[in-house]
Amino acid sequence: MGNQPARIYFDNAATTSLDPVVLEAMMPYFTEKFGNPSSIYSYGRESRLAIENARKSVAKILHAHPAEIFFTSGGTESSNTAINAAIHDLGCRHIISSPLEHHATLHTVEHLVRKGEVTLSEVKLLPDGHVDLDDLERLLAGSTEKCLVTLMHANNEIGNMLDLHAVGNLCKKYNAIFHSDTVQTVGHFPFDLRNTPVHFITGAGHKFHGPKGVGILYVNENVQIQPYIHGGAQERNMRAGTENLYGIVGFAKALELATEGFEADSNYIKGLKIYMMEQVKQALPDVDFNGDPLGRSLYTVLSVSLPMTGKSEMILFNLDINNICVSGGSACTSGAMQGSHVIAAINNDPNRVTVRFSFSKYNTKEEIDFVVAKLKEMI
Ligand SMILES: Cc1ncc(COP(=O)(O)O)c(C=O)c1O
Repeated sequence: MGNQPARIYFDNAATTSLDPVVLEAMMPYFTEKFGNPSSIYSYGRESRLAIENARKSVAKILHAHPAEIFFTSGGTESSNTAINAAIHDLGCRHIISSPLEHHATLHTVEHLVRKGEVTLSEVKLLPDGHVDLDDLERLLAGSTEKCLVTLMHANNEIGNMLDLHAVGNLCKKYNAIFHSDTVQTVGHFPFDLRNTPVHFITGAGHKFHGPKGVGILYVNENVQIQPYIHGGAQERNMRAGTENLYGIVGFAKALELATEGFEADSNYIKGLKIYMMEQVKQALPDVDFNGDPLGRSLYTVLSVSLPMTGKSEMILFNLDINNICVSGGSACTSGAMQGSHVIAAINNDPNRVTVRFSFSKYNTKEEIDFVVAKLKEMI
């Protein structure tokens, strides 16, 4: 093991570093190409063209139509827009969701339930944390109201992945609207939205080496929704406000790079995850993994469950002191040992602590060796 690197960043499910090539593509739009895309003169037209080219590129990669792609401020806004539209514009009165959703979905749904606008059914989970599809079908079949099914494609804390096609086909069978939070998978997996039975999906640039504060909402061409943010005519009247021009350019560039590198990067990162699993199993007593890490799972995320001892309780704190960045649960609970609603829903054992490691193409086995050695020392 060599010298300690300055900082080890194993929290790529929270956010990723900006790819320098993405920054380079964005730079002209911070400087000389500053026109408002709504202006009719040359500066404005140049900016408009950049946005529409970005939209075309994103649509092509996801196998969607450009008219189905809306740029937003990120995953949270996209999910809020989709869920509210399903209730207010598409006639859904019954939401079927799971307790493992990100707060962007969970709190939006809870808000609608509190206001008395919808009823909520939580789908059962299997012991490995996957959604019980038989229970989902029972809920859909038994509903007397039009349903919105909102289930995330990949869980940001434990990495479990949903079968989008299986869920989408069930939704089709029961005439339900299907929204999936795909923030952890857009930029990490190929999508073929032409052939995926889903009405809404979401994406956030900062999860795949793009900029923060920019995302997409895909709205299938067969559903007609009203604007969520009112004002100017931007985003074809769907999302008012002067566009995040450099963010949109950066989002498209990051998605292009992620798509080009998918084969090599995903294999490499998956290798890191498996290596980390092997190393922690060898180094630490009574270690376990949350979710289904070697099954239907994100190759970027490894959720490690450790027995609770005085030492493991302090683990995030001690890792931080050693310049190692990890999460206890999702990004919003970074630094806290408890408070993850996901871990509570799948494994409510007060005698275990969870550390989430999440990797990118910039991580190395040497970093894993260093972190595992530190963990061994700490526990
Ligand atoms: C699964 C999931 N959904 C939604 C979000 C929210 O995305 P954003 O931060 O772009 O609003 C995140 C990011 O933390 C996420 O991991």
